[in-house]
Amino acid sequence: MKKILVVGAVGQIGSELTLELRKIWGNENVVASTRKTPPSDAVKESGPFEFFDVVDRSRLEEVCKKYEIDAIVNMAAILSAVGESNPMLAWDVNMNGLINVLEVAREMNMKQVLIPSSIAVFGPGTPLDCAPQETVLKPTTMYGVTKVAGELLADYYVQKYGLDVRGLRYPGIISYETLPGGGTTDYAVGIYFDAIKHGKYTCFVKEDTRLPMMYMPDCLKATIDLMQADFSTLKHHSDFNVGAMSFSVAEMADSIRKYIPNFEIEYVPDFRQKIADSWPDSVDDNAAREEWGWKPAFDLDAMTQDMLKNIKIKHEKGLI
Ligand code: SER
Repeated sequence: MKKILVVGAVGQIGSELTLELRKIWGNENVVASTRKTPPSDAVKESGPFEFFDVVDRSRLEEVCKKYEIDAIVNMAAILSAVGESNPMLAWDVNMNGLINVLEVAREMNMKQVLIPSSIAVFGPGTPLDCAPQETVLKPTTMYGVTKVAGELLADYYVQKYGLDVRGLRYPGIISYETLPGGGTTDYAVGIYFDAIKHGKYTCFVKEDTRLPMMYMPDCLKATIDLMQADFSTLKHHSDFNVGAMSFSVAEMADSIRKYIPNFEIEYVPDFRQKIADSWPDSVDDNAAREEWGWKPAFDLDAMTQDMLKNIKIKHEKGLI
């Protein structure tokens, strides 16, 4: 593919992925798009960007034609916690946005579409430990419902139209550039920011809550490796489990104390506890390892060290 459109380029993953894709495909060949919030200076200054809402199909089509887009990466989504406050909004953005992307890609004979899925596809009934690639998918959040439907829809476009659609089930993504917006795994980012800013954190899930997590450099690598994989070698398409690490909040706190010995944490669980409890502790990602060579690099302590170092720099510069 030659010209990529990143939808949702102001979000936690989209903002960093846009810059990585520009390094590989060239600045002018990666168009960033956002609904309302202006993109970061780094995204704005390094290449083209457009404002539009992914649920507005005619604008999506117009932008794709304007830049002769031949691949779309759709990062626009309403995550689990916000989705529970506003299920209709989650349905609208996650489903109507998705079908718009797939239809425009099909009509314009695009070369590839990347649609992220999530560990939110799992639910009670999925094995807690090492959730298999093929397993029970009965989520209890609207976000999860839209992600299961999204995987099925994406696979439908592969088999019905031969469209190259790919996707992976992201675990909780941890990063310091752009904050996540409204997910259940947001505590795993908040804990590092509050450790630097205040030396303590109030966590909205219990200390023994354990979920699959991944550091942003591994997330970018997984996404780009999957985009570059040979389509003919893929047996799965839009539902790859990708694991990296799995730890409890108490283990995160211990890891932070290696660098900030006086770090304190208290636990005040809210409605997100129930969502976290419905997801597995870890995933089996052998399909991703076998079909496109997935291999993560970061473990908990390596990530903690890098997160704290970078957040401290931002704090000292007065950016946070
Ligand atoms: N980070 C997401 C959430 O918590 C899971 O994919 O909603």
